[in-house]
Formats: sequence, C-alpha cells, structure tokens
Amino acid sequence: VTTETDPLADARRRVAALYSPETFSRLACTWSELLTAHLQSVTHSEEKVLNWNDPPVNIEAAGRFLDAGDSEQGLDLARAEERFRDLAGEALARGQNLHDPRYIGHQVPPPSPIAGLFDSLGTVTNQVMAVYEMGPWATAVERALIERWGAAIGYPSGTFAGLITSGGSLANLTALLTARNVALEGCFETGVRREHRPALVVQGDAHYCIARSAGILGLGTDSIIKAPLDDQRRMDPGQLNLILRRLQDEGRKVIAVVACAGATPTGAFDPLEPIADICERRDVWMHVDAAHGGGTAFSERHWHLLRGAERANSVICDAHKMLFTPALCAFVFYKNREHRFDAFRQTAPYLFDPSNPGAAEYDCGLMTIECTKRAAAYGLWGLWSLCGSSLFGDLVDVTFETTRVLYDMLRAADDFEPLHEPQSNILVFRHIPERLRSVDLEVLGNFNREVRKRLIHSGRFYITQTTLNGAGAMRCTVMNPLTGQRELQELLEAIREIGREIEDSFL
Ligand SMILES: Cc1ncc(COP(=O)(O)O)c(C=O)c1O
Repeated sequence: VTTETDPLADARRRVAALYSPETFSRLACTWSELLTAHLQSVTHSEEKVLNWNDPPVNIEAAGRFLDAGDSEQGLDLARAEERFRDLAGEALARGQNLHDPRYIGHQVPPPSPIAGLFDSLGTVTNQVMAVYEMGPWATAVERALIERWGAAIGYPSGTFAGLITSGGSLANLTALLTARNVALEGCFETGVRREHRPALVVQGDAHYCIARSAGILGLGTDSIIKAPLDDQRRMDPGQLNLILRRLQDEGRKVIAVVACAGATPTGAFDPLEPIADICERRDVWMHVDAAHGGGTAFSERHWHLLRGAERANSVICDAHKMLFTPALCAFVFYKNREHRFDAFRQTAPYLFDPSNPGAAEYDCGLMTIECTKRAAAYGLWGLWSLCGSSLFGDLVDVTFETTRVLYDMLRAADDFEPLHEPQSNILVFRHIPERLRSVDLEVLGNFNREVRKRLIHSGRFYITQTTLNGAGAMRCTVMNPLTGQRELQELLEAIREIGREIEDSFL
C-alpha cells in the first residue's frame, strides 16, 4: 500500500513501529542495563536520595522532552534506542531513590525489584479486570491472594470475602461504603437523610482518608467522632465504650468504629480485642485500617499486634506498604462473605452477563469502585510464589527492629528526644541542641522542620515531618530493609551538622 492508495499509510507505518517486538526487545535490554546500574548505585548510596528541584523546574524539563517528541519520523530502531536511553536515564536521575538505605521517609517501600518485574507482565499485556473474562489470570491471582492473606489475618476459610483496589484510601472508602449501606438500609438508593443522624467513631489519629470517606459517603465530616487515645496514641477502649453508649442513648446511628493497626503518625496499633468486644456488644460495625500494619500477619514476632482483627467486619491492608510490592495494591476484607456485594447494589447488563449469573462471583467490577482495574497484584503474587509468605515476615521483622535501634540511639543521645516508643517502624522525634533547650515548643518545632527541609534538599537523607504534641517534629519510617545502624548514625550526625548551621536564627 502506498500513500497514493492509502492516505493513512504513513500513519500505519508509525503505528506498526510502536508494536514491533524487535524494537521492544532492544529497548527492554537498554531498560534492564540502565535500571540495573541505577539500582547498583542507589543501593550503595552513590546518588542523592532525593533529586530535589523546585516543581516548576521539573515541569518545564518534562515538558521540553514532550515537545521534542518527533512525530514526523516515527520510531526507527536506532533512533528509538538512543532516545529511550536519554528519556529513561532522565527519569531515573530525577526521581526519589527509595532503594537508597538513607531513604527513611514515607510509608512507601522500595519494592523488591523482582516484584516490579512481575508487575510489568500485567502492565505490558494490560491484564485489566472488571469481568473475569477480561483478566482471567489477574482475577485468579487476586482471589488466591485474598484467600491467603485473609487466612493469615485469622478469618476462617470459606467464610470471608475480599477485593483488591487502588490504594488504602479507596479501600477504606469501599469498606465504609459497605458499612454505611448495611447500617442504613436502602441508603444506596435514597441517599443519607437528616433523620439518620449518622456517626462514625474513629481513632483519634486516623488517616485523613477516613474523614474524606465520611464526606464522600454523604455522612458528612461532622459525623466524625474521634475516640480518645492513650499515652501511646492507641484507641482507649474504655472511652470508646462511653462514646458508643452516649451516641446510642441519643438515638444516633453509628455507621462504624474505625480502629487502626499502624496509625499514620506514629505507627500505633489499637487494642483490637477489647475494641471487638465493645463493637460486638453494641452491635456496631468494626472496621480496621491496617493499611500500614497488615503485613504483621506474616510475622511470628509481631502477628499478635493484629489479634482481634479477625473479629472486625472489615479490614483493609496495603500490599504496597509493608509487603514491599509496587503501588498500588490494597486489599479489602469482609468477615462475612454475605457482604461482598453490599458496596454497590447495581446492575450493568453490558458488562455483567445476566445469562451467566454465577460468573458474577468472579466479576470483580461488582465489588470495586473501579470498572477497568489494573492487574495490581502481579508483583505480590510473583514475589510470594517465588519466596513464600515468610519473606514478608522477614521484611516486617527487620524494619521494626531497625526502628527499635533508632529509638535506642535517640534515647541515648542528649540532643534528641523520641516522642513515643515505636510499636512498629514509624518513629517521631525532635532534635534539641543544647542551646535550644529553653526555647518554646513552637520555635523548636519550626527549627526541626527547617533542619529536615535542608536535609532532604541536600539529598543526604530522606525523612518526613509531622506535628505531634502541638509542634513540628521529624518522622522516620524505616521502609527500606537495607537501612542499618550506619545510616542511622550518619542521619543523626547530618541533622546535628545542619542544626549547628541554623540554630542561631532560632535563639
Ligand atoms: C493508616 C493509613 N490508612 C490509609 C492510608 C492511605 O493509603 P493510600 O496512600 O494507599 O491511599 C495510609 C497512607 O499512608 C495510612 O497510613
């Protein structure tokens, strides 16, 4: 076909080049070479942890690459390889290096690169799900994982159900949507009404997505009642009981109690057994946000932290946190499998075939907010199948232990103060140099924030900040299992050094 007979001949040639297995193979070799070199240098701390640029600088640079894309020529192999090398190299050089042991920041892990390889199988071949027949293996992988992680949490086999969705926020929203629909009969159709007077009782440190869920679900953020915390920032069951009694006496409809297994600010685990006792006695839906702590189910040392989760009506867990797989891969579990279709009471005949009603059991689109859903669990499935689930216990044990080491180092130092004892791998602390011992807390908090900002911009370490006990503080989450004592010592030294440079301006 020539351009004379087919006006789209050039377009077809360019399109065909995008799908050429030969081109893919060449680029994949380059990809592997670049990524291997990157991982080698990053895991040996040879680069900056965070490649900081102000956002407009990065946006402008990213745009320049887009504008240089040459649509006239299309992809010829030699040019594609050279250009791919530039682009991939640039992406690797400008990011956040989670695999660096000096990354001790957010609750996002450096995934095992092997999990990334499995993940790419689903990505390149686009094994999306909504109905079983679109992604049969992706659905099978999802179901097999749900059965096993649910069993590890302690749900009896055959009695529970679950789903995978895009992140802990959406997982919490989905579970709370189910709780709302169960508590307020007919509400999916009619909406929440004023006379329902709903209440959502939440752990005082619950992640902000819980309040968002209340807003999205029509409960209103005003429906949120924060359950007080004990001195280790865990929900106080005695106080919870009082709150529920008062609400029920007032005729309020309690949609759920939201407990945490690994609360965001400090990694605290609520006492789930006494909370379950109270929720059962008061006939209230118990939800556990185990986005962070769900991985402890695989640890012989730490599984006790989840004791009582198996009595919760719903639990959510993020594999892209403590199971060290690529984002996003979040699980929702329902204790009672009867609730598996209660979030969305809808039919969609163009998708869900009425002539084959049994198939709905495996059409995950009936249970998730997403219609098209990526095969989020290939990474987890591959890693688990390759190494066994005890590997996840190792990852939990190692990162929790390193956090304990940091805690001991901070306690032993005169110029640092840990703000709590770690229950997991999150630790909040302040640097208090001798000369700033008597400044007020707000000034000390601002000093800590400024030190952290300079520290992360320097690329030497990546840690986060938070506000605790009324003032700014530094926060470490040991998410990189390669972080060791040496990095922790260097971290304290780097903080001291930056502190000395700026402390005068806080006096
Ligand atoms: C306890 C808790 N719940 C929910 C979330 C939200 O999860 P995601 O970021 O996957 O939406 C987080 C995130 O850090 C969290 O710590």
